Amino acid sequence: GPSPVRRLSALEEHLDRPGLWVKNDGLLGTVYGGNKVRKLELILADVLGRDASTVLTFGGSGSHHCLATALYARELGIRVATVLLEQPETQEVRTILRLLESTGARMVRAGSLPSAVARLVWLATRCTEIGFPPRPPYMLWSGASTPLGCLGYVNAAFELAEQVQEGLLPAPKTVLVPLGSNGTAAGLLLGLRLAGLAASVTAVQVSDYPTVGARGVARLATRGARLLRRRGAPVPPLVFGPQNLKVISDTRTRRYGHPTPEAEKAKELLQRLEDLTLDSTYTAKAVAALIAQRDLPRPLLYWHTLNAHPLPDSF
Ligand SMILES: Cc1ncc(COP(=O)(O)O)c(C=O)c1O
Repeated sequence: GPSPVRRLSALEEHLDRPGLWVKNDGLLGTVYGGNKVRKLELILADVLGRDASTVLTFGGSGSHHCLATALYARELGIRVATVLLEQPETQEVRTILRLLESTGARMVRAGSLPSAVARLVWLATRCTEIGFPPRPPYMLWSGASTPLGCLGYVNAAFELAEQVQEGLLPAPKTVLVPLGSNGTAAGLLLGLRLAGLAASVTAVQVSDYPTVGARGVARLATRGARLLRRRGAPVPPLVFGPQNLKVISDTRTRRYGHPTPEAEKAKELLQRLEDLTLDSTYTAKAVAALIAQRDLPRPLLYWHTLNAHPLPDSF
């Protein structure tokens, strides 16, 4: 079913700022939730449709994307190899690494972006050396942020429009999300337009990879629209530019995986006031920006993208 929406009443009162809402994608899926579920629903269908039996992907060493891909692919009998870029090894990161290892996915560590690219090329061309079949693996971009993956958030925007229509929340003027690899924000940018919601997408940039930012989001949303048209959807030829969304970006928040004091404070606050668990890399930075930016138009919907299923010791 749709992910739940609710008012953040205690936070509203604490900040003396009415009109704050959350849509919680945390419990989507069966074993691991968050934004990857919506993207992987489409991506893994594509993997099966192409008759691929292996997926090669990459992300940070605390990547929810790599873990979610490994888990849901395993359910379908698809094998996964991941290239993991170093990031500060917090407790959260160690947990993800341990769980990823328990899925049986192949894990290759890389210290920098160039070495990650080199390892990806090596794995793609020499997959038999890690025990994979000789056929080329399905190459999946980090965060599953491909034109197809981002369509998961086009669906999500339609889901939100229905919830607005049912009177579960007012039509938001701002939809706020973390921005890690462009896909979530891009899907929402395109989806809100198609679903007839006038909300503006505000994305809090938590990564400084060169492809991430307003331009990358706009390009991906445009490519998503093109893909829908190619597949026969009645969609106008939409072209997005960086002016179509607001990106909140400062040099500290952008340092991927590096906690900030403001984010850690937001994490404590949301846990205490709203019983909502945030993470240091993505969601706490987004909520810290929500708290700092008093002038964002309201009603404001904070779209929660972190897994909320209880985690076992191993999968
Ligand atoms: C919990 C969480 N929130 C937000 C994001 C950012 O979404 P996107 O990569 O689509 O920009 C990610 C992944 O990158 C994530 O794991």
